[in-house]
Amino acid sequence: MNKEQKIEKYEEAAFEIDSLLANESDMILKMASINSILKNKFEYYFWVGFYIVNNNSLIIGPYQGTLGCLYINYERGVCGRAARTKVTQIVEDVHSDSEHIACDSQSNSEIVVPVFDPSGRLIAVFDVDSTEFAAFDETDKLYLESILNKHFQENNLTTNWKW
Ligand code: SME
Repeated sequence: MNKEQKIEKYEEAAFEIDSLLANESDMILKMASINSILKNKFEYYFWVGFYIVNNNSLIIGPYQGTLGCLYINYERGVCGRAARTKVTQIVEDVHSDSEHIACDSQSNSEIVVPVFDPSGRLIAVFDVDSTEFAAFDETDKLYLESILNKHFQENNLTTNWKW
């Protein structure tokens, strides 16, 4: 997929996500919907999902794809590095990244974007894996950061569930 095609797809995805979530605030609802729209939009997305911050560690949240690791602590994984540094991580070849955790050996590259709440606290990391090498670049980073900022940091966010 060339850069123009990628941009066009992300513009479509951002529009669909914005329309769907305009009046929504629930964290899990947003995570599940963003996963579905993005996973179905991009053929190079193999695994897409959120790891949610819990007690200075990460626990699996909504995702689409093969079975993910249940827990990742901040000292491990590209997800842990994104949580620790609060900076988006792009890995062109996961096999050459010593911190990478292989939940599924089919993954060859990934991007992990930190997700913040309206007060600027880290609430999750968003992880996308691809079976292609070097699938993710600055275009993915730009659009994913923008989508996630808009729907978690800048808009209403609720996490309280009543049983
Ligand atoms: N890629 C991650 C592990 C999670 S899975 O790939 C679903 C990492 O190294 O942090």
